[in-house]
Amino acid sequence: MPLNPPKPALVVFVIAFSAAAALAAHRPTFDNIRVTVSSKKFPDRAEKVLVNSDSLQQALAARDADAIDIVKIDEESLPVLYEGAFRNVDLAQLTISDTDLEEIKPGAFAGMRRIDSLVIGENRLQSIRRGVFANLTIAKLYLDDNSIKVVESGSFAGMRMITTLVLSINEIKILERGTFKDLPELQSLRLDFNKIETIDEAAFENLPKLHRLDLDNNRIKRIDSNSFVNLPLLVVLLLETNVIETISLKDLDSLKVLFVHDNNIKKLDMGMLDGLKSISKVNISHNDITTIEGVVKRGLNMVYFDLSYNDITEVPEGAFNGSSIRKLSLNDNKIRKLAPAAFNSTRTRRILLHRNAIRSIRSGTFAKIDVDELLLNNNRIERIEPGAFEYSSFQKIDLDNNKLTAIEPGTFKNVKVAFISILNNAGMNQKAFNNVSDLLRTGTEPARIRDRENVILDIK
Ligand SMILES: *[C@@H]1O[C@H](CO)[C@@H](O)[C@H](O)[C@H]1NC(C)=O
Ligand SMILES: *[C@@H]1O[C@H](CO)[C@@H](O)[C@H](O)[C@H]1NC(C)=O
Ligand SMILES: *[C@@H]1O[C@H](CO)[C@@H](O)[C@H](O)[C@H]1NC(C)=O
Ligand SMILES: *[C@@H]1O[C@H](CO)[C@@H](O)[C@H](O)[C@H]1NC(C)=O
Ligand SMILES: *[C@@H]1O[C@H](CO)[C@@H](O)[C@H](O)[C@H]1NC(C)=O
Repeated sequence: MPLNPPKPALVVFVIAFSAAAALAAHRPTFDNIRVTVSSKKFPDRAEKVLVNSDSLQQALAARDADAIDIVKIDEESLPVLYEGAFRNVDLAQLTISDTDLEEIKPGAFAGMRRIDSLVIGENRLQSIRRGVFANLTIAKLYLDDNSIKVVESGSFAGMRMITTLVLSINEIKILERGTFKDLPELQSLRLDFNKIETIDEAAFENLPKLHRLDLDNNRIKRIDSNSFVNLPLLVVLLLETNVIETISLKDLDSLKVLFVHDNNIKKLDMGMLDGLKSISKVNISHNDITTIEGVVKRGLNMVYFDLSYNDITEVPEGAFNGSSIRKLSLNDNKIRKLAPAAFNSTRTRRILLHRNAIRSIRSGTFAKIDVDELLLNNNRIERIEPGAFEYSSFQKIDLDNNKLTAIEPGTFKNVKVAFISILNNAGMNQKAFNNVSDLLRTGTEPARIRDRENVILDIK
């Protein structure tokens, strides 16, 4: 069958198309670009080099290659990095910042011999394509402050030297399964200030050295325990300022710091903290938690546990059973009730209960504890039962802005307290202190009481 000759219109189209394609393919990466070169040894001897070529190596070939290991491209027009742009360049640091860079073609960094730090921050990248960074021996990769929406799964595969990966301040929405998987040296991964809504199962898997993971300031709604798999050295997990409603974590044996403040958590997973063997600093403030019953079962050893600014109504018996918590913040909740044994056998240096709705302190509530600071100010306390502080010692008890009218006899029997503040309590008068002379007999040092006239009475 004879071939029909192509129609003229099509010929024109084909020619135009291939011409455009050829033009695009042959456009050099460096088109009148000023590149600043220097060296770690002599960082002050920076020099600007005008580059017009496909690859940086061509431009640097004429120079003493050993004397250059830092290259910076800043405030230039460099929309696309084509394949081979950095082939055979041997650098410690390469920075491309504040440019109009929109696209990195796979292979742009192929053939770079070694690189400690690659900074591509403050540009206009929209996606990270698989094959751009995979298998490169980069130690620190900074991709922050771009417009990255998509990170293709496998983008960082095989980066066996990477220790730090920064993707902060981008527009990433979804973390696909396996995006950050099997990176044997990765210690710090930053994904804060993105638009992440969903974390797929096993998005973070087999990162044996990961120490810190920043996922704060995103739009994450839920955290499942299977999102974080085999992260044996994870110490710091930052999840604050998201819209998390439910969170579940397990098998994070090294986790010390957990920030989930400023979220929408209504209920804490019972026993979650008990499963985190090394947990030490927890901030769950500014959520919608109503109950802490059963949250702490075994004694935890913590530097701080911040539960302030929630909707907790009650501190139940044994709520912190046997825990040692240096600072326990329960202020700015809706606590009406403190169970008589609420703080039983808790070792806590500071207990913050101010700005709640507590009406009375029952006998035994703060018994047998050793506390530096107990803040009960700005509640509605009308009555403190004798025995409330029994066999305990305090550096300071703040009872300002309550509704106390008197301190009952025996209230401070067998209590060691260095300073009590009772400013602005309804109907409180000097006589109220008649019986606090108990303090004299039991206090380690002369107790000082500040009354509503803001005088410090030293009872000697
Ligand atoms: C990375 O290396 C692996 C294993 O050698 C190979 O299968 C894969 O194709 C490489 N990926 C890229 C993008 O070069
Ligand atoms: C917890 O986070 C809040 C911000 O929501 C902050 O104000 C507070 O100081 C943090 N608590 C601790 C103990 O660091
Ligand atoms: C407190 O802990 C002890 C042992 O650690 C346990 O036997 C007891 O049931 C716990 N009490 C509460 C109220 O959880
Ligand atoms: C308080 O704790 C002690 C152990 O430290 C325990 O023997 C006692 O039963 C507890 N009291 C209450 C009311 O839970
Ligand atoms: C002080 O104690 C005595 C007897 O112990 C009692 O009669 C009196 O009402 C007490 N005063 C106040 C202000 O509580």
